[in-house]
Amino acid sequence: MGSMAINIVAMVALGTVALCHAAPQRTMESFITAVEQVEEWDPEMGVLSVLKTLRRFGGLDDPFVRHFLGPPSETPLPTIPSEASDFLRSAISHRVTETEEEGVVLTGDGTTVALAPLILGVEAGLLAPPGLYPLALARTLGLAFLRAGTPPLWDSLGPGGCWDNLTSPRTFTLSGTPTPATDAVVNGGMDGVILGAELSGRAPKPPPRLSGLLRLYYQHRLQGAGLSSAPRLISPRRRENFRTLVSPSLLQDQVRESLALHRRLTAHPGPEEGQESEAVLRAGVELFVHRYMDCPAIIPRCQWGAEPYRGTPTQLALPLSFLYVHHTYQPGQPCLSFDRCAADMRAMQRFHQDDRGWDDIGYSFVVGSDGYVYEGRGWQWRGAHTKGHNSLGYGVSFIGDYTASLPSAHTLALARDRLTACAVGGARLTANYTVHGHRQLVNTSCPGDALFSEIKGWPHFREVEVKP
Ligand SMILES: *[C@@H]1O[C@H](CO)[C@@H](O)[C@H](O)[C@H]1NC(C)=O
Ligand SMILES: *[C@@H]1O[C@H](CO)[C@@H](O)[C@H](O)[C@H]1NC(C)=O
Ligand SMILES: *[C@@H]1O[C@H](CO)[C@@H](O)[C@H](O)[C@H]1NC(C)=O
Repeated sequence: MGSMAINIVAMVALGTVALCHAAPQRTMESFITAVEQVEEWDPEMGVLSVLKTLRRFGGLDDPFVRHFLGPPSETPLPTIPSEASDFLRSAISHRVTETEEEGVVLTGDGTTVALAPLILGVEAGLLAPPGLYPLALARTLGLAFLRAGTPPLWDSLGPGGCWDNLTSPRTFTLSGTPTPATDAVVNGGMDGVILGAELSGRAPKPPPRLSGLLRLYYQHRLQGAGLSSAPRLISPRRRENFRTLVSPSLLQDQVRESLALHRRLTAHPGPEEGQESEAVLRAGVELFVHRYMDCPAIIPRCQWGAEPYRGTPTQLALPLSFLYVHHTYQPGQPCLSFDRCAADMRAMQRFHQDDRGWDDIGYSFVVGSDGYVYEGRGWQWRGAHTKGHNSLGYGVSFIGDYTASLPSAHTLALARDRLTACAVGGARLTANYTVHGHRQLVNTSCPGDALFSEIKGWPHFREVEVKP
């Protein structure tokens, strides 16, 4: 009797678990697990066959795809648990409604990746010589530029978006009007280019497992010196790796050629080739280079779980002429993962709003040691970081206490080179902007002795001018 009761309880509990699993979490982990189930179904299957199988699950088949990868195979789809096959069907096929994006997953580093361009890019890489990226990125970018029409094409790329729940992500809501090249599609395309280039020419002797490759790339856990001592092929280095592989002129050529091929194969009466579309492509590639190659990836407020601004923010008059460097002091340790950095952001915002009584987290941007910049008040709104100077410059803070030690070389470069190039290119900072440490303007030890000596060597650092 007693054991029967326990069994019933156990069955009810199992039922609940099964119910929760009905709508799987949209994470890279779920995807890799499903890929493993495909691999386990036939351990003899090579990487190329696994990729072709995934392509069939996602229905990734059109004349353009066939041109590069050939027709889908005729062999039956693997018999894997229905949760896994259902997940693969819905997770690989990319769709955008007015506000939601499907076919994307949340990775452990806090970025969101569309799976279709990733899978196509890796397969193309295995088959093609290095440097051929039409399937991962070039066609999509071309279609996005042409759709937007007239330069400067500000709205031809993006947007990003945010998940309903970070621990249990199911719905990804876009933060603006969708284009064919959302941030997630660009991320997936960049990863497809990077992993495809890595596998290029290795077709006869591919790595044993796709799941293993994806785990190494997406699930590396940073330690100690963070990115400065991490392997080269990991997702937080996405933009860095992409920049070494792809030049703007190569990209423009491939976008042009992909569009011509697309037109020929699909016989779509799209815009004709000519002067006008060449100008559109040039402007589009310029925008792409600015947004995704010059700028660092910035984790938006909704993604780290920010509370809303309290009150009415004040608009800055751009471009600004100053960048003020801070350290957070508390938290005192560099954060090495998205989970940790996001939690630090929430803690600082709570402290600034509740204890200090400010409208919001004070900083404009915050630099983690996980390879990402976190959005504080952002480019548009006046911060509360450098008393008396908040309308004149952006306040950029490094998470950690840098009195006696420094952020990693990689983390320093993220602010010194990438964030500033992004700000100047986007007309948020003047080209001759000035870098000051917080302590040059306010009686404080911030940004710490070690970090202050470091920024004294930055190209835009200036002593404070003493007015006569
Ligand atoms: C997110 O999902 C987890 C697990 O389902 C749940 O415990 C948590 O309360 C959710 N968080 C929010 C903010 O809804
Ligand atoms: C920076 O350049 C602007 C014009 O672009 C000029 O007005 C300003 O004086 C310059 N500032 C410094 C500090 O050189
Ligand atoms: C600066 O702050 C320190 C300690 O907070 C204080 O002892 C010192 O008098 C201050 N200096 C000025 C110029 O206000």
